[in-house]
Amino acid sequence: MSLFVKKSIDQLLADSAESEKTLKRTLTAGSLVALGIGAIIGAGLFVRTAAAIAQHSGPSVTLGFLLASLGCALAGLCYAELSSSIPIAGSAYTYSYATMGELVAWIIGWDLILEYAVGAATVGIAWSEYLNKLLESILHIAPIPYEWSHSPFQTSLDGVHGIINLPALGIVAALTLLLIKGTQESAFVNGIIVIIKVTIVVLFIIIGWQFINPANHTPYIPKPTTYTDHQGITYSYGGIMGILGAAGTVFFAFIGFDAVSTAAQEAKNPKRDMPIGILGSLVICTILYVLFSHVLSGVATVNDFRTTGQEASVAFAIEKYMTGYAWLAQFVTVAILFGFSSVILVMLLGQSRVFYSMSADGLMPKIFSDLHPKYKTPYKANLLILVLVGLFAAFVPGDIVGDMTSIGTLFAFMLVCAAVIILRKTDPDLPRQFKTPWVPFIPIAGIVVCGAMIFGLGWINWLRLIGWLLIGFIIYFGYSRHHSLLGKQEKK
Ligand code: ALA
Repeated sequence: MSLFVKKSIDQLLADSAESEKTLKRTLTAGSLVALGIGAIIGAGLFVRTAAAIAQHSGPSVTLGFLLASLGCALAGLCYAELSSSIPIAGSAYTYSYATMGELVAWIIGWDLILEYAVGAATVGIAWSEYLNKLLESILHIAPIPYEWSHSPFQTSLDGVHGIINLPALGIVAALTLLLIKGTQESAFVNGIIVIIKVTIVVLFIIIGWQFINPANHTPYIPKPTTYTDHQGITYSYGGIMGILGAAGTVFFAFIGFDAVSTAAQEAKNPKRDMPIGILGSLVICTILYVLFSHVLSGVATVNDFRTTGQEASVAFAIEKYMTGYAWLAQFVTVAILFGFSSVILVMLLGQSRVFYSMSADGLMPKIFSDLHPKYKTPYKANLLILVLVGLFAAFVPGDIVGDMTSIGTLFAFMLVCAAVIILRKTDPDLPRQFKTPWVPFIPIAGIVVCGAMIFGLGWINWLRLIGWLLIGFIIYFGYSRHHSLLGKQEKK
């Protein structure tokens, strides 16, 4: 069987119409934008921004955000074309099955596990930091001890070793159960959380602006050097490499707009609504992020984010520097706990939909596409994903899972950009409700910008990505290739 066997687009659309297996169509354009923002604003902004400031770029993190946003906008335009012409579940995975064949589709599907499952773990870990903030600063009770709220690979500033991150594990488990109950209810709760999240971001920008200390913004782009943290990990800091590294790290903050495309099969009018959902949520978030990170790096110092302000960084900065606004730190902490939950929810949803599609194609075991008799959700997939996400959340540090999520997603974005160019050549007459402008310039620019961010993330992350892909190849050649439904049809 050819490794490059492709699914025909007509067959894809016919498959999705097969009534019994179809997911319920309940989402409108508005709920898709809300789903996007719900997935987008989260740990990337409230946790990874401070890490990027501390490890890579100081105040020039704002330039990192702009670069990351540019990469997302370029890839987003490509996503929008694909999701409007192939409006079914599975995201980049499905698009590549139709354009670049089974092996590439597998690589993308496998890679998307980094985006959704490992991403959900990253946000769970960030949730755990803010939970401790809540216990300590608001409820004035003892926080969960360091060893029970950190992975075995972490050591505190005063030398305590982590064992397991129990709160991160707990939140992921609770949200999996909610998800099994159904998308519609989750989308409603999500809508409320989105409003709260945007409110705290705007409040922080407006109030924090008066507390910016110009000294913290000088120099805006630090001179190139290196920074070694208390665990002995060294980063390139300052200069262009610092900005690229920061862009790779905060790129995490934009992940999610593409998760909208995984819900295409549940959208009422996917051809019109998908591009609106994807690009609309991206634009709103970019404006908020640049302003927010400008204020955060102006209020607290780089040294704060390397030491006592390393965790729950936004609440820390408000408490330490914004006198008279303790209420804001409390509001932010509580809101973030809900806000992060909505991000985890969308990522878990995205992951289960990708597995659903891969399993319907025979590349993953059938168990991933079994729907719940009453709720019509892929509940078995959700439970297995819980095991995977739970392991990452409990036993791997946030920095590592965060950067793995970024690099995996950037790689998938590059393939999505390539898919647009290929599909224009192989299937020029396919009806496209939304067309990416200036092809091939936009997709090529997307590949270059995303590639630059991958470069900025450094060789340890490249190795992690390569290792992950190798495991994927072993599974593909050991299992999926022999079970592929398309492959079996081809043999007949
Ligand atoms: N963009 C999402 C976040 O920042 C993944 O948490």
